[in-house]
Amino acid sequence: MATETHEDFSEPILPGPGASDYERYLRTDDLLSLQKSPGEQTHPDELLFQTVHQSSELWLKLATSEVERAAAHVTSGDIPAALRLLRRSALCLQFITRQLDMLEQMSPWEYQEIRRVLGHGSGFDSPGFREVRRVTPPLGQAFDGAVRAAGLDVVEVYVRGREHEDLYQLAEALLEWDERITMWRIRHYKVVARIIGDQVVGTQGTPVEVLGKMIHHNFFPALWRARNQLTARAKEEEGEREAEVPGHGV
Ligand code: HEM
Repeated sequence: MATETHEDFSEPILPGPGASDYERYLRTDDLLSLQKSPGEQTHPDELLFQTVHQSSELWLKLATSEVERAAAHVTSGDIPAALRLLRRSALCLQFITRQLDMLEQMSPWEYQEIRRVLGHGSGFDSPGFREVRRVTPPLGQAFDGAVRAAGLDVVEVYVRGREHEDLYQLAEALLEWDERITMWRIRHYKVVARIIGDQVVGTQGTPVEVLGKMIHHNFFPALWRARNQLTARAKEEEGEREAEVPGHGV
């Protein structure tokens, strides 16, 4: 028998400002007041510009929180739990890379109006990216520790990947994170080149060319190097096999 309820679901029950629980829980009043009002804007595209930046900071907050938690799981030996979180982090970076498309909807000439009101504001001071730089190296250290504990090195994780499935998956998740950061950098570099040019200096004095060079930075160089080592090793083993075949090589 269905029990009758007299609860009025249209009334908010959570504390705090906002007409509904949706607005109270999500603090939409605060969130939606974080963008300049039309009266404060120097150009209407400031809403687009602020939306892309602010939402990028939010996704980066989630991404780096998950990376930090993942590193703790790796240290405590729970690799599957780490993998679950690293999948989220990689997705966050995919989202913020994709939304850079929106910035190219701005006219490069009209953007100059917005640029004038940015002061010395620069992406180098992005809290989200500062967190990326802070939480990524400890993840690498946690991975190195797990590889050492298994009595392996990075190349062996790949050569014997079938026997060490968890470590193999973890290595690939780290590489994915590293690659997604680079993909963001590549995309950002092209957006910057398209909007302000590639032969100019940024609002904090950095030549855009420097951004181009940063594309070559890897957080986990050993994982990238391992590919070269695997190719060299495969070639070496092939050479040895050919030498064993009668009539082959001297
Ligand atoms: C019209 C759009 C954009 C322009 C013209 C632009 C321009 C620049 C420039 C010129 C730099 C070099 C530093 C300096 O300012 O002197 C830079 C760096 C940076 N920007 Fe942007 N940017 C744009 C959008 C974004 C967005 C949406 C984000 C998202 C968070 C972002 C994050 C960064 C970061 C993290 C750096 C440091 C470089 C790195 O770590 O790879 N930028 N940007």
